[in-house]
Amino acid sequence: LHRSSFPAGFVFGTASSAYQYEGAANEGGRGPSIWDTYTRKYPEKIHDHSTGDVAIDEYHRYKEDIRIMKDMGLDAYRFSISWSRLLPNGKLSGCVNKEGIKYYNNLINELLANGLVPYVTLFHWDTPQALEDEYGGFLSPKIVDHFKDYANLCYKEFGDRVKHWITLNEPWSYSNGGYVIGTFAPNRCSDWPNLNCTGGDSGTEPYLASHYQLLAHAAAVKLYRDKYQASRKGVIGITLLSYWFVPYSDAKWDVDAAERALDFMYGWFMDPLINGDYPHSMRYLVADRLPKFTKEESKLLKGSFDFIGVNYYTANFAAYKAPCFNAAHPNAHNPSYTTDALVNLSVERDGVPIGPKTALDWLYIYPEGFRELLLYTKNKYNDPVIYITENGVNELNDPGLSLEEALTDNHRIDYYDAHLSYLLSAIKDGVKVKGYFAWSLFDNFEWNTGYTCRFGLNFIDYKNGLERYPKLSAGWFKKFLQKCVELDAI
Ligand code: GCO
Repeated sequence: LHRSSFPAGFVFGTASSAYQYEGAANEGGRGPSIWDTYTRKYPEKIHDHSTGDVAIDEYHRYKEDIRIMKDMGLDAYRFSISWSRLLPNGKLSGCVNKEGIKYYNNLINELLANGLVPYVTLFHWDTPQALEDEYGGFLSPKIVDHFKDYANLCYKEFGDRVKHWITLNEPWSYSNGGYVIGTFAPNRCSDWPNLNCTGGDSGTEPYLASHYQLLAHAAAVKLYRDKYQASRKGVIGITLLSYWFVPYSDAKWDVDAAERALDFMYGWFMDPLINGDYPHSMRYLVADRLPKFTKEESKLLKGSFDFIGVNYYTANFAAYKAPCFNAAHPNAHNPSYTTDALVNLSVERDGVPIGPKTALDWLYIYPEGFRELLLYTKNKYNDPVIYITENGVNELNDPGLSLEEALTDNHRIDYYDAHLSYLLSAIKDGVKVKGYFAWSLFDNFEWNTGYTCRFGLNFIDYKNGLERYPKLSAGWFKKFLQKCVELDAI
């Protein structure tokens, strides 16, 4: 497999996010985000009790990191801006942190000087703590204007050089992790009392948090289109995660369940973006607990993207699940799937896993689902322009391995080889994919699993000064990207 099989102009990059990479949490005038609070206040929720305080220190090492990208032959870099690094209290009416602006200017300029195109995510889950404290962050409509102001600042400061904007990263994960299963900030969940959440109502809050994420997205896109797009000539989109869902059996009730699972993970956002309202299945099953869009909001949402960013990692089996009343927890709702969606998800069928298991219990490898999801998107959602904004695989951080062993990641080479092949076949079938970003260039802070699992093409030596070392997969990727080969290699 080689990049020359992909259409001309197809972009290859890697993806990252501020809290997972930057570190320097208390430096350069940055204000706290909900992830600082979560990791400090509830260390037991992070597998290794770690934080992103230092992460992989990209804040100080970005030049070295960009050299590595350039050396690998990458075209682009997707990163996120830390809202509270620019606006320490989340608002324009506070003060703009000049040091934060300077950091992102340096990063962007260094990328461009090395021929790498910046793809910038405005929000990758790190809500300013001040806004969480004041009105509950994304549970309140007040977030919409504050997000718009923050977006405006970014467009104004960086828009002369940044031509690819992503408003939000994976709103589903933010709502599900933060308001249903209690694994992410802001640590709210009512379903599972043993998870030590700080309040919450999982029957309503995830729907609210998603609703205001969608409205914040739409407001930021409208602003870009009204005020910047004509002169800057950039494009703007949103990044969504979806698994692929395989019906547990051929029975109609399981086939329908797989469709509903897609609705509750992907359609939750795609339907509003394409049609201006949530999927019928959600309207019907969540009923009064699902917020409504006004006519105006619905119009604003419809078509509020130039491209859709798709993150694909894995697949699940989906089976019909009968409605149930949970006597132990009468208020329990797991809106994503189990209760509201009437879906049972599993990674195994009759004891056989859907694909090879990785060191994360949610990540089983199922590359054919990548192609399926892309064709589904094309057919169901009007054939949008797509960037694959994340795709990748992990391994356990095993301190017992020698460096050489830790760099031997043949499973990652297989993962990329298979996924890129299915991607190519989807493109050949007409899906309009314009670029692909691997998750991730380096090992990094993997949210509630901390540093216990590694997603990098390059290894981070956490024990020795965060040195970077290429894994075998980095070499594979470099070769895949090589535009010309040396003569004696023919
Ligand atoms: C995501 C997250 C990443 C994760 C990656 C692996 O967007 O899901 O962007 O932050 O690290 O997905 O779980």
